[in-house]
Amino acid sequence: MSYKKKLIEVALPLDAISAESAREKSIRHGHPSTLHLWWSRKPTATARAVIWASLVDDPSSHPDKFPTEEDQQAERERLFGILTELIKWENSNNKNVLEKAKAEIEKSTNGKPPALLDPFTGGGSIPLEAQRLGLKAYASDLNPVAVMINKAMIEIPPRFEGQGAVNPEARAKPIDTWQGALGLAEDVRYYGEWMKQEALKRIGYLYPTVRDEYGQERTVIAWIWFRTVKCPNPACGCEMPLTSSFELSKKKGNETYVCPVISDGEITYELKTGTGAPQGTVNRRGATCVSCGTPIDFPYIRSEGQAGRMGSRLVAVVAEGNNGRLYIPADNEHLQAAQVSRPEEYPDAQIPDNPRDFKTPNYGLKRFADLFTNRQLTALTILCSLVAEAQEKAEADALAAGMEDDALSLAEGGSGARAYGEAIGVYLAFAVDKLADYHSAVCSWNSPRENIRNVFGRQAIPMVWDYAEANPFCNSSGSYNNMLDWVVKCLTRLPGGPQGTARQFDAQSDTGLRNVMVSTDPPYYDNVIYADLSDFFYVWMRQLLKHTYPDVFRTMLVPKSEELVANPYRFDGDKDQARVFFEKGMLEALTQIYISARDDIPVTIYYAFKQNDTREDGNGNEQTVSTGWETILTAIVSAGFQIMGTWPIRTEKPGRTLDIDSNALASSIVLVCRKRPEDAPICTRRDFLNALKRELKPALDKLQSANIAPVDLAQSAIGPGMAVFSRYSKVLEADGTPMSIRTALQIINQELDLYFSEQDSELDADSRFCVDLYTQYAFNELSFGEADVLARAKNTSVDRLAKNGIVDAEKGKVRLLTREEIPEKVDWKSTWLLTQQLTRAMEREGVAGAAKLAAGAVSSEPERARALAYRLYTIAERKGWTGEAYAYNSLVTMWRDIQTAAAELRRRAPEQTTFGFE
Ligand SMILES: C[S@@+](CC[C@H](N)C(=O)[O-])C[C@H]1O[C@@H](n2cnc3c(N)ncnc32)[C@H](O)[C@@H]1O
Repeated sequence: MSYKKKLIEVALPLDAISAESAREKSIRHGHPSTLHLWWSRKPTATARAVIWASLVDDPSSHPDKFPTEEDQQAERERLFGILTELIKWENSNNKNVLEKAKAEIEKSTNGKPPALLDPFTGGGSIPLEAQRLGLKAYASDLNPVAVMINKAMIEIPPRFEGQGAVNPEARAKPIDTWQGALGLAEDVRYYGEWMKQEALKRIGYLYPTVRDEYGQERTVIAWIWFRTVKCPNPACGCEMPLTSSFELSKKKGNETYVCPVISDGEITYELKTGTGAPQGTVNRRGATCVSCGTPIDFPYIRSEGQAGRMGSRLVAVVAEGNNGRLYIPADNEHLQAAQVSRPEEYPDAQIPDNPRDFKTPNYGLKRFADLFTNRQLTALTILCSLVAEAQEKAEADALAAGMEDDALSLAEGGSGARAYGEAIGVYLAFAVDKLADYHSAVCSWNSPRENIRNVFGRQAIPMVWDYAEANPFCNSSGSYNNMLDWVVKCLTRLPGGPQGTARQFDAQSDTGLRNVMVSTDPPYYDNVIYADLSDFFYVWMRQLLKHTYPDVFRTMLVPKSEELVANPYRFDGDKDQARVFFEKGMLEALTQIYISARDDIPVTIYYAFKQNDTREDGNGNEQTVSTGWETILTAIVSAGFQIMGTWPIRTEKPGRTLDIDSNALASSIVLVCRKRPEDAPICTRRDFLNALKRELKPALDKLQSANIAPVDLAQSAIGPGMAVFSRYSKVLEADGTPMSIRTALQIINQELDLYFSEQDSELDADSRFCVDLYTQYAFNELSFGEADVLARAKNTSVDRLAKNGIVDAEKGKVRLLTREEIPEKVDWKSTWLLTQQLTRAMEREGVAGAAKLAAGAVSSEPERARALAYRLYTIAERKGWTGEAYAYNSLVTMWRDIQTAAAELRRRAPEQTTFGFE
């Protein structure tokens, strides 16, 4: 098989793609993520870049047009220019930019761009971007919530493209052209507003206003509640509040907190201004009674919760003021308004048995309905019934506006009045579903920002002690208005284009599609258990849309058993069974992808999972492997693919502690795969090792010079290593058995270690000694004798190191000085010291501080310090020294910014280039 090399197999403007992808996290208005929550979405910039670069030929594929390396590079630069413009969020719907990009796709695909399949579509970034680039997109997912998100993005809007709004208000206006989905969006806004007015008529009385200190009526934003249990101290027995914080506002000038007042064993709550809030009563270890000070452990709170004896107490009302939030004590009227009985019917289900992600069942909140107050359940169920009414109205108006009366539903492929009414219903259902995320008794009040946190701030449902019950009819965060607005804005920005298809499908089955391009982002081992989490939304969505899409909502809950995730809870806690299930399923899914994929376009697979298992092998050596990576790579290689390249694309802003603490990664690794030729050679272990030695070092040099975050380096190295391994049909061990992926990964990791230790030889003697000491003792003491032997072996001496302010040597003990203890004066000659000084500057003053040091550089020392920071990160990460790993990771990830700021400092003060450090 010989096919034209695509750009993605040769080069990408990685920095630009990473920068745009990370920037997207802070873009809200109109972004697809605001249509409906989905966990671990891929940025649209990444997806757009990957699809485009997988379709466009690399110039080296056209030696007739670009005979020399220079010609090819010049052409690549031109393509990079197009790509760099294409990925900008602002250009998402820029006709000129899109036309230019599409023209290149046409050129490289003989005018016949392929269809794209994403069998693990989730939040749908990949199919959406395919549609934007003019491809027909097939999106499938096992999860009905994901399927609906994709229908709402790529299936429904093209069906009503250019359709004018049908509501009476819009029809009365003299607008005759409605671009794209603007008509649909306008109708969603209109019927959504109608719903709000109707809901206000029916349940507005449940949300009384409040009077401020001047007697002026104010709209409530939220009611603040503390959960309570009876203090187990028999001498006390008060209804003790459980709260992580008493603070309501940390905003400068508006600091306010709740103050518990204890009198005769009764607790009342006052509001105070200023910064003297008492400590919250619950922390990681347990709770404390505010009245008698008795410490209370979680088992007691759990048993009270399980027995249904956990209460809640209204402690404050937050209202909209003229210049910010107002905090008003709760009175009886507000307490009364909250005393609502449960609606007769409401969507509900048991919370899945998944103690990792759901903490509330421990405290007796075992059903989804338990996560809502009665008032919240009432509002949400009323809104559900109003969606159905709005849908009917929209259908009637659509008929009046002259749309076809073909009685065909959306699910049947209709595009007449009935389907249109249903389409409006889908987007309104999304607004209600989004509201549930902010209208739950596990939403807390965010005192620094003075707004409500949603349920899914993380990929889990935590237990929340102090919760904020939002007013759906206010105009602040968490309101129905806001939810509707997000949905409408997103709809106005959807690209339209060829009719897409979204369907519920198990990726392990044959889609029937052939000769399509495949780009996909499969589940990352056990990282997110989507099916469990999404039940929270599914129960509402099902109630709202089961008549519109009976097939999608045929199950009572999100299907779980086929979900590809290594979830031990589904196997009675058996991790091995969970792994085998994931492994087998992934192989099946990858085999289906192999069958569907066309040969001339690479398959791209996203993966982001940290290598986190460090174990000892039989010889007492530490081996780093990752079951998460092992399973996916085994599936890719066994399905018949070879890895042509990998791209670590940074999708998060740098420097989050999460990067280091969890298995989540700041970068997504995009694996570029091709079908392995049937006649691929077999090789021996030795051949593999030789090839690896040849190819891995330049690849690692490239990664480091691209400034890949240390936290991502190990997984980024897997790509080039596996590219070598997977080009052979088999790598044979000495005994003739084929080498496993696990062994290959171990060898790749050993090579990575070797790469770092070879870098040691470029270090000065003192720094080599320090690295050794750090690896073995961190900043802890060792005996002088031992330190002396180590120092001599590295050609230095403890005395000299002590004189240079690197170690402390006293009373027969030696230890590395910590960053707080090392000298302020910069020492350009010791890479160790400089690395620590730069890291310290970064810790203390951020980029500006580190830049001040780097600006004084007169040699390549800062670059050496950066290289050493990679090494120190790797050591710290493996040893589990999170704080240390975080510090070095931050230094490297901000390196470009440090360099830019340093250059600016040098430009502004050339006379001070050495900054007096020498
Ligand atoms: C990493 S997510 C995809 C995220 C997506 N690229 C985005 O930007 O939102 C993986 C998806 O695989 C889906 N999935 C898990 N098992 C599946 C199966 N057997 N068949 C199809 N989809 C499955 C999950 O529901 C989840 O949406």
